[in-house]
Formats: sequence, structure tokens, C-alpha cells
Amino acid sequence: MQGSANLNVMIKAARKAGRSLVKDFREVENLQVSMKGAGDFVSRADIAAEKIIREELMEARPNYGWLAEESGETPGTDPTRRWIVDPLDGTTNFLHGLPHWAISIALEHKGEIVAGVVFDAAKDEMFYAEKGAGAWLNESRLRVSGRNRMIESIFATGLPFGGRSDLPATLQDLARLMPACAGVRRWGAAALDMAYVAAGRYDGFWERRLNAWDIAAGIVIVREAGGLIEPLDPAGSLLEDGEVVCGNEPIFEKFSKVIRDS
Ligand code: IPD
Ligand code: CA
Ligand code: CA
Repeated sequence: MQGSANLNVMIKAARKAGRSLVKDFREVENLQVSMKGAGDFVSRADIAAEKIIREELMEARPNYGWLAEESGETPGTDPTRRWIVDPLDGTTNFLHGLPHWAISIALEHKGEIVAGVVFDAAKDEMFYAEKGAGAWLNESRLRVSGRNRMIESIFATGLPFGGRSDLPATLQDLARLMPACAGVRRWGAAALDMAYVAAGRYDGFWERRLNAWDIAAGIVIVREAGGLIEPLDPAGSLLEDGEVVCGNEPIFEKFSKVIRDS
């Protein structure tokens, strides 16, 4: 796909940060004797990746706003455009040496996500989309799955950890969904979960308590692949609520009904 100048900047930034993270990922294994040491190392890797992305994006578009997990929000002189960045989604996987993590970069224009990149650097899978130009994985066009029977469908979610308050609601979701479907996966990187829905690898994904940087790029990637993505509360806001349900079009109504039926 011949992307816009903005998309090319985003892809370049993701690749550069990806090289830095892959190098650090190879080091993590040597540090696992001490989880605390590894934890500190990973947070340094995370901050370094965000710095690389920020330098690349801000050099190219110094007037755009910025929202990222590590450095928070900086308004731009152009109030209509904002980068939304998670430099490392799937930190726990990274820390444990599991090769399932990604860089997520989105561009918002007048409140709408118009471009998104989710880069799985360990597998060299670049998922990207621009409004009106389709969703892509490397050189191939993406399309959500066509499954329309719940019992044949696989769904992904994030399970709350460390005493988070949304555990009971998620367990109830699972109790309703699991008997009705072919399986539920928890792979630990929400940005990749959405990219996998776009690629037809999962038929749907939902999660409570995410942040804007986890979801932003995935929104346009899922939509451009022909999928539907909505806030869990239909009257809510995707980026502000951080509660998301998405899936291929044929399954979406049945799937979202099970998830929303709490
Ligand atoms: C996390 C991952 C995970 C999700 C968590 C997120 P992080 O992001 O996306 O899959 O379940 O809610 O916080 O902390 O690895 O960037
Ligand atoms: Ca994240
Ligand atoms: Ca993160």
C-alpha cells in the first residue's frame, strides 16, 4: 500500500523503536535471575522506545499533540491532531521472555483515529491502516474472519491481574461466553489482540479497563479490515472509557450481546 506521509513517519518510528526493543528483549533472558532487576531493565527499555518514537514523530510533525503511556499528554499547537502511543504493549510478556508484545502508534484528527500502526517486532509483523485505505499486514491486505457461528469462533480478552476491581465482571463474561464458543485466549497485548481480529485470527475481542494508548491504533485497523469496534457501553466513548468490544461483522451482534448482557 502507498501510505500517506504521516503513515510512513509512523512506520519508520515503529521500526526504529522495534530495533531497540528487540535488542533489549534478547538481554531480558539473561536478567531473569532477579525479577526486580529485569523489571527495572524493562521499564528502561520501555522509556527508551517511547523516546525514540517521540523524537521521530515530533521531528516530522512538531505541531501535533502527544499522548503516551510513559510521558503523558503534551498539547500541540495544532489542537486537531494528536499522536497516541504505547511504546511497549505486552510488558509482562516482554519481562517473561514471551515473544508477544508490540509498539502501538495512532494518529487522531478531530477526535477520530485516522491512522494506526501496531508493530510486533519479534515476529516482524507490521499491522497498519489508514482511514479509507484498508488494513494491512506487511504487504498483504487484511480482512476480518467470516465466521458467524459462536460455537466455531475464538475470542480474546485481557484478564485483570494484581487485584484489579474488574475481575468479577470479567469472570462473569467468561462464564457466559465460554460455553457458547470455541475458545477464549489471553495473550497479554491488547493492541495485538485487535490486530489479530483484523487479521481474522480471532473472531472477536473484548476487554475492560484499557487506556487510550492500548486501543487507539487498533480502532482503525479493525474498522479498515471490515470489523466492528464499539465501547462496551454503547452510549460511551471508546478512548475515554477504555472498555472495548470488537469482532467481525457477522458475529458482532451475537458476541457483543453475550458480553454486554451483564
Ligand atoms: C497491557 C496489555 C494487556 C492488557 C492490560 C494492558 P501494557 O498493556 O495490553 O494485554 O490486559 O490491561 O495494560 O501494560 O503491557 O502496556
Ligand atoms: Ca498497553
Ligand atoms: Ca505499555
